[in-house]
Amino acid sequence: MAGSIVLFGPPGAGKGTQAGKIVEITSKPQVSTGDMLRAAVKLGSPMGLAAKEYMDAGLLVPDEVIIGLIQERLQEDDADQGVLFDGFPRTIPQAESLEKIATVSSVISIEVPDDAIVDRIVGRRMDPETGEIYHVQFKPAPPEIEGRLIQRPDDNEETVRSRLEAYHNQTAPLADWYSDRGLLIRIDGNASIKQVGVSVERAISRIL
Ligand code: AP5
Repeated sequence: MAGSIVLFGPPGAGKGTQAGKIVEITSKPQVSTGDMLRAAVKLGSPMGLAAKEYMDAGLLVPDEVIIGLIQERLQEDDADQGVLFDGFPRTIPQAESLEKIATVSSVISIEVPDDAIVDRIVGRRMDPETGEIYHVQFKPAPPEIEGRLIQRPDDNEETVRSRLEAYHNQTAPLADWYSDRGLLIRIDGNASIKQVGVSVERAISRIL
């Protein structure tokens, strides 16, 4: 299938958790703006340091920074047949810019109510060696790697409230924007990781 897929949803909806399955089925590379920004923060580049202030406050990084990152990423060879966007676009100006440089064939929206989000974010842990995402309650890590797990600095209750506010004010309107274009597929994300995975597979089989 030509064109890119957008994985859409609030913070902690399970986009990163489900992305691997979509990559496996479609062979499209995952392009996560959150991961790209965290890599820039780790490098200590001027852009990374500026982005960190927004991320730590739970605010969206300015559109021009994000659009620049995406333009650069889409020039790489592996993006030829489209990619899986994870966490992008997050504003209508980002979607409008994307429309000019790539074709979006479908948008999979993982829908989760706010009250489930806080528990998911606060309990999230990541394995820095493999990038695998765990959860203290919903997806415990094997005991032998527990000691090396890390928690993202923005995964605390205070920041998650700002992230949810940013989501509702700036990102959620994109659902109607994509729905008006006939591209939106809604998935109930308020279910177990396994059940959401089944819904994601069904959605992908409809669009392949
Ligand atoms: P980003 O890294 O994209 O964070 P996010 O959108 O807030 O999404 P998350 O990574 O928090 O959640 P996810 O949906 O991937 O959930 P996950 O699968 O890990 O962005 C970080 C920051 O960067 C932003 O705040 C912003 O500042 C900036 N940024 C990034 N992109 C930007 C853009 N385009 N424009 C402007 N700024 C941008 O799951 C969460 C947890 O729940 C895990 O522990 C998992 O194990 C668990 N879990 C998953 N599914 C389930 C389930 N079904 N049941 C129970 N638990 C589950």
